[in-house]
Amino acid sequence: MNRAVFSILAIFALFAVVTMPQAVQASEGTVHPAQQSWHFDGFAGTYDRGALQRGYKIYREVCSACHSMKRVHFRNLEALGYDESQIKTIASGYNVIDGPNDEGDMYERPARPSDAFPSPFPNKNAAKFANGGAAPPDLSLITKARHDGPNYVFGLLTGYEEPPHGETLNDGQHWNKYFPGHKLAMAPPLSDDQVAYEDGMPQTVEQYARDVVQFLTWAADPYMEERKRTGLKTLIFLLVLAGVMYAVKRRIWADQH
Ligand code: HEC
Repeated sequence: MNRAVFSILAIFALFAVVTMPQAVQASEGTVHPAQQSWHFDGFAGTYDRGALQRGYKIYREVCSACHSMKRVHFRNLEALGYDESQIKTIASGYNVIDGPNDEGDMYERPARPSDAFPSPFPNKNAAKFANGGAAPPDLSLITKARHDGPNYVFGLLTGYEEPPHGETLNDGQHWNKYFPGHKLAMAPPLSDDQVAYEDGMPQTVEQYARDVVQFLTWAADPYMEERKRTGLKTLIFLLVLAGVMYAVKRRIWADQH
């Protein structure tokens, strides 16, 4: 095979292997979620700003009653397309504990863009106590912390079912097709028409789940787009370099035969 063609194919093959999604591993007791197609998939995939804003709304109005997102700061919302004054307004709708002041007391003040999202419970024990013994995990990195995160969280939010015959649930447990062991201490958090969308998107559990998953994926990987752009530039650079090297090689060896 022509060497230049071979080098180019080799670079492509290497790139494909590096960016290929992790092979799905089968393990006992878990049902693999269906693979959704996401706007952020693939090596040129980006976040859909509209979906991120709707997803943030779902987090704010539903999930944040139980789940913290300690690693996200209000100013990070700029990436969703909000400007500085919108972010100030969003932040000032929350109170955070600050201090101690000069007298040694902690005090409440309205949140600022530099503050992290406030947590719904003061500590883990309070979170456990309020949720029948199971603390709702922080959602900042959840799509990375679970295998096949985005598809799993989407499956979880849409995967509530009646328990199969012969299975019993304790108080506060709910049967979920995709939760390992199936007995989940989170009641179905979403229902149709629960959150109002202003952009005309369907107000269904499925759409809410799709949007909040996109928001959570952004939160766990806010630099994905930048990384992919760099990857693409590197690939183009390597291809051009391969072409130049080939031309140089032909010139150098031109008189040798
Ligand atoms: C009323 C409280 C409550 C609300 C509201 C709530 N959750 Fe949960 N969530 C929980 C609890 C409690 C758990 C822990 C369940 C367990 O371990 O059995 C949990 C667990 C989870 C998990 C982790 C499952 C796992 O694999 O460990 C995810 C993901 C999750 N919730 C996402 C969400 C999202 C997204 C929303 C908003 C749409 C939401 N939750 C709303 C209480 C809540």
